[in-house]
Amino acid sequence: MPDVRTAHTADLDAHTLHAARTLLEDVFLGDFSEHDWEHARGGIHALVWEDTELVGHASVIQRRLIHEGRAFRAGYVEGVGVRADRRRHGYGGMLMAELERVIRGAYDLGALGSTEEALDFYASRGWKRWEGTTSALTPAGIIRTPDDDAIFVLPNSVSLNLAGELTCDWRDGEVW
Ligand SMILES: CC(C)(COP(=O)(O)OP(=O)(O)OC[C@H]1O[C@@H](n2cnc3c(N)ncnc32)[C@H](O)[C@@H]1OP(=O)(O)O)[C@@H](O)C(=O)NCCC(=O)NCCS
Repeated sequence: MPDVRTAHTADLDAHTLHAARTLLEDVFLGDFSEHDWEHARGGIHALVWEDTELVGHASVIQRRLIHEGRAFRAGYVEGVGVRADRRRHGYGGMLMAELERVIRGAYDLGALGSTEEALDFYASRGWKRWEGTTSALTPAGIIRTPDDDAIFVLPNSVSLNLAGELTCDWRDGEVW
């Protein structure tokens, strides 16, 4: 039976963090940068274990998302991955259920940038695809991010105009 656990980054030992990073490098076939790993830390991780083997990871960290003049506290989901030979066993759903619980309890909304492969996965969980424009609050001002067209949100305590503009805070690496 899989064992799903949650913990803040600060409470994960070096072995577990190493296992999570290695898993994500495998899941994303090497396309998982130092920045991607940095983005996935500093919040709550959900981990699926089979005995001593880590087979699934996801985390939620805090970001500010600006929408219609307000700066919402967002639980931003990062580093979602299930080992290739364990997919379609419900593990991804178990990870997201834990993070959605955290989002409901602590944030105005959830948000994430989806891969092509995971579009149906998030939609099937009730996440809403952003229909409007996206942008980032960069050191040079607000800049449109038209390539980031697979942003999903999970409204919690706020009502969102999905056809409006959503602006993320600034960070190194991929902004969304
Ligand atoms: C996306 C991912 C995490 C899903 O994990 P998973 O453990 O396979 O997901 P689940 O078994 O919980 O799937 C739950 C439901 O989501 C949907 N779903 C999941 N993967 C899907 C896919 N590839 N295509 C279509 N629907 C999918 C299905 O409705 C599925 O239910 P079903 O199996 O009864 O049909 C996994 O495919 C993965 O690690 N992919 C590679 C990395 C990646 O793209 N991560 C997302 C980053 S944003």
